[in-house]
Amino acid sequence: MLRTKDATQNLFDDWAKTYTEDLQNAAGPLFGYKHSLEEACKMIQLSKGSTLLDVGIGTGAFAASLSDEGNEVWGIDLSENMLKECKKRYPTYILHQGTFTEPGLKDKIESFDVIASSFCFHEVLPDERQTACEKMYTLLKPDGKFLVLDIMFASQSAMNNARKQIGHYWDSTENYPLVQTLDEMLRHVGFKHISWKNTGPFHWAFSAQK
Ligand SMILES: C[S@@+](CC[C@H](N)C(=O)[O-])C[C@H]1O[C@@H](n2cnc3c(N)ncnc32)[C@H](O)[C@@H]1O
Repeated sequence: MLRTKDATQNLFDDWAKTYTEDLQNAAGPLFGYKHSLEEACKMIQLSKGSTLLDVGIGTGAFAASLSDEGNEVWGIDLSENMLKECKKRYPTYILHQGTFTEPGLKDKIESFDVIASSFCFHEVLPDERQTACEKMYTLLKPDGKFLVLDIMFASQSAMNNARKQIGHYWDSTENYPLVQTLDEMLRHVGFKHISWKNTGPFHWAFSAQK
């Protein structure tokens, strides 16, 4: 059975304090976390002065790798405790509690040059994923870019093989997206110039333009 939103919030609220340290040697579906972050970062370049929104920002690792002091960084997350840890590390970031499907940010329509997200999209329930992509589309400036890195698989058989490989670390309360399904959804929402990169044994990233 898939994890509920409340259970996910509790999980990350409880994990927040040790999350960054624990991910130094990530196991299970997050194996190769650091390498995948580096590879996904190479897929886009933020120009000076551009505005970034990181969705599911956690403790800030992806936003920090993508941006420098010339960028304005916004972050939203379901977990208040993850946001607190993020604020300790990156005091200049503008942080709000929010989710992929309910980001808030009502006065930020067409405001972001880039929306990025790492290891969070799979937390959105499958029947809410199109709404999530639509919300992100709305928040992006015209020609803005959407960059997502996550636990994803090229096919159902690739996912089955990964499940065998990962063994007891496999998390049956999560539903990982398939590349083709997500690619079709992005096109349906209106994204163009979609490109995919396999960043690790269990990870894919895409960049897409509004
Ligand atoms: C595995 S962590 C990834 C954090 C960070 N992006 C990273 O790469 O280290 C997933 C994060 O997504 C948040 N989250 C879970 N579901 C979410 C949702 N629907 N919308 C926004 N954030 C969510 C969690 O609270 C957590 O901080």
